[in-house]
Amino acid sequence: MSAAEYPKPGKSLTVPSPGGTGDGGGPLIEARGLYRSFGSTPALQGADLAVDPGEIVAVMGPSGSGKSTLLHCLAGIFRPDRGEVWFDGGRLDLLNENRRTELRRTAFGFVFQFGQLVPELTVADNIALPLLFNRDDRKDAYRKADDWLNRLELDGLGGRRTGELSGGQAQRVAIARALVIHPRVVFADEPTGSLDSLTGERVMDLLTDLARAEGTTVVLVTHDARVAAYADREIMVRDGLVTSPFPVEGGR
Ligand SMILES: Nc1ncnc2c1ncn2[C@@H]1O[C@H](COP(=O)(O)OP(=O)(O)OP(=O)(O)O)[C@@H](O)[C@H]1O
Ligand SMILES: [Mg+2]
Repeated sequence: MSAAEYPKPGKSLTVPSPGGTGDGGGPLIEARGLYRSFGSTPALQGADLAVDPGEIVAVMGPSGSGKSTLLHCLAGIFRPDRGEVWFDGGRLDLLNENRRTELRRTAFGFVFQFGQLVPELTVADNIALPLLFNRDDRKDAYRKADDWLNRLELDGLGGRRTGELSGGQAQRVAIARALVIHPRVVFADEPTGSLDSLTGERVMDLLTDLARAEGTTVVLVTHDARVAAYADREIMVRDGLVTSPFPVEGGR
């Protein structure tokens, strides 16, 4: 295990390196030439992407083009086969499994299409869980969970089991759970994929309003142009490559 895998105490969780990001107004997250295959199936074939602090970026592209794989590499869930992932001035892809887990737990929030909530636990338990994992005081954790219930317009639902929620309610709980730790980045993969369009728009309104209020960077994978319109910028992924970064006309 190389020294580069150990962050210095009190410093950022990644190791600052010359030429990296995050050391003077540069991007918060950067992918450089990412390759990742699953067996003989290439998912990423040299993908590059830079996301500024506080930016909301929509990742679009056809099914199977590599969007989820890119998101998983940026979030340190997968390691790329080749290429570099920079976060906050350091090489995320060089961190060992434990450090990447710690980074995900403390600096990243995740919202997926479904399956991220524990159905047997209550709404309040689900939202408090990331804080309890980070060894927050129990009372504090539930107080913060309550505050996020309120911000996601879920008042009164704290005692409900998440298995009994509507799709839109469940996604709002997932957003509360992602934001409760005040993450630097929220990674969202098709967060409205299982919702009707009106419910999806409400969920996007809340996610983007709260992320902007908190200054949270968001990387949002979606098929849906109406969902992507909530972002500051859209990028297109095709055949494992980022092919077109361009500003969203009239982006909110
Ligand atoms: N765990 C895996 N095992 C095997 N192949 C995989 C795995 N994950 C992704 N792939 C393959 O890698 C390629 C890219 O997949 P990925 O999930 O990143 O695409 P995507 O753009 O997110 O697609 P979708 O829009 O359908 O979610 C596809 O060919 C896919 O079949
Ligand atoms: Mg996907």
